[in-house]
Amino acid sequence: MRYAFLLYALTIFSLCEVKKCLYLTKTFIDFINKNQSSWRAGKFFLENVTSRNFVHRYHRPVLNVGNEVRVKDCYLEDLHIPDSFDARKEWPHCADVIGNIRDQGSCSSCWAFSSTGVMTDRLCIQSEGEVKFQFSPQDILSCCENCSNSTYGCAVGGSSDRAWRYWTESGIVSGGDYDSYQGCVFYQESEFYLKTKSPCMKSCNNPHYKISYAEDKHFGSDYYQVKPAEKCIQAEIMSNGPVEAIFALYEDFYYYKDGVYTYTIGGLVSAHTVKIIGWGVENGNPYWLAANSWNCNWGQLKGFFKIRRGVDECGIEQYVLAGTARLKTKTSSSSPWLLVALVSAGIVIAVMAIALFVKKKSMESVINYFRLKS
Ligand SMILES: *[C@@H]1O[C@H](CO)[C@@H](O)[C@H](O)[C@H]1NC(C)=O
Ligand SMILES: *[C@@H]1O[C@H](CO)[C@@H](O)[C@H](O)[C@H]1NC(C)=O
Ligand SMILES: *[C@@H]1O[C@H](CO)[C@@H](O)[C@H](O)[C@H]1NC(C)=O
Ligand SMILES: *[C@@H]1O[C@H](CO)[C@@H](O)[C@H](O)[C@H]1NC(C)=O
Repeated sequence: MRYAFLLYALTIFSLCEVKKCLYLTKTFIDFINKNQSSWRAGKFFLENVTSRNFVHRYHRPVLNVGNEVRVKDCYLEDLHIPDSFDARKEWPHCADVIGNIRDQGSCSSCWAFSSTGVMTDRLCIQSEGEVKFQFSPQDILSCCENCSNSTYGCAVGGSSDRAWRYWTESGIVSGGDYDSYQGCVFYQESEFYLKTKSPCMKSCNNPHYKISYAEDKHFGSDYYQVKPAEKCIQAEIMSNGPVEAIFALYEDFYYYKDGVYTYTIGGLVSAHTVKIIGWGVENGNPYWLAANSWNCNWGQLKGFFKIRRGVDECGIEQYVLAGTARLKTKTSSSSPWLLVALVSAGIVIAVMAIALFVKKKSMESVINYFRLKS
């Protein structure tokens, strides 16, 4: 509850002044490493990255969540929760999408990345690996008007629950990483700070993509908040796949190298959302295993991190979101025949009905009947 203010009413802009905020110093890192033994800090960005570049590139994940989502019931009877779990191992046919680390660049679009990441994983899991469709963060960023503020675009973050709602109502197209020319709408934001985001074109930005924007839309059928309890979150992940979580981002988190993160030092920067894919215990410390969206060169776990589990570390167990994909029926082959069958059946029934009718009444009354009806 300590983080309730953050989770439900956050409209913090850049709380963090460039000078005050970034301790790109050895002292800061040393302090973290001496003060606790759960995790290790290190410098994982290029040596020549100035604090200003650093801010521009990484310090942007501010979120604004509404409180509009139903809380899903949580039943734990008969459920054995293992000590460790990794969605990549549970669903090996989807391990590549679940383990895909993306890069939000200099845009506060973590909410778009973590929500679409979970959507991508769940569509794959539900379709038993048949549909590997990478949902496009750019599509919600540019086209979901209610998800973020179009005036500030990349600068002020957005709302994860609106992103989930957008998925069920408007669908989301496919889209790969920055400049990747993969999918329908690949990622375009890179260096923008306090600038508007790319406008919504309602068409693919990838000229090589063969499917139209409208046809490429994939929908969710349902979305919900997972009950804020460790076991309910575990049950949800075990049953349905990764989930999206929001937590309070403190300055020390940038320096995560490995181990089980627990807040140690530094000011509150903003909120951040990530994808939780499993859990475990390391040196007696229970943790959530999560995928960040700061590229795979962040940290020593190649873009993943572990964060303390069971104590609502930085509010991470408070506002967990997930949903269900709507699987597209295999229309291409079966549906024309189904249509033909239905139409034929309809004609036969109509002819029979008219024949019966004619038998009873004169042709004239039949004509009158139809005239009156129309
Ligand atoms: C860690 O830092 C806090 C705050 O400065 C201090 O109170 C605490 O004693 C430190 N713990 C260790 C083990 O150094
Ligand atoms: C930083 O250093 C890397 C490696 O030496 C170099 O490739 C890159 O261009 C440098 N970046 C800047 C902004 O100077
Ligand atoms: C955006 O939010 C407003 C206010 O809640 C609502 O009336 C409107 O229908 C929403 N638009 C879309 C496209 O969901
Ligand atoms: C965007 O933010 C500005 C500044 O806070 C605000 O005045 C405006 O109403 C916001 N727009 C929307 C659509 O929320």
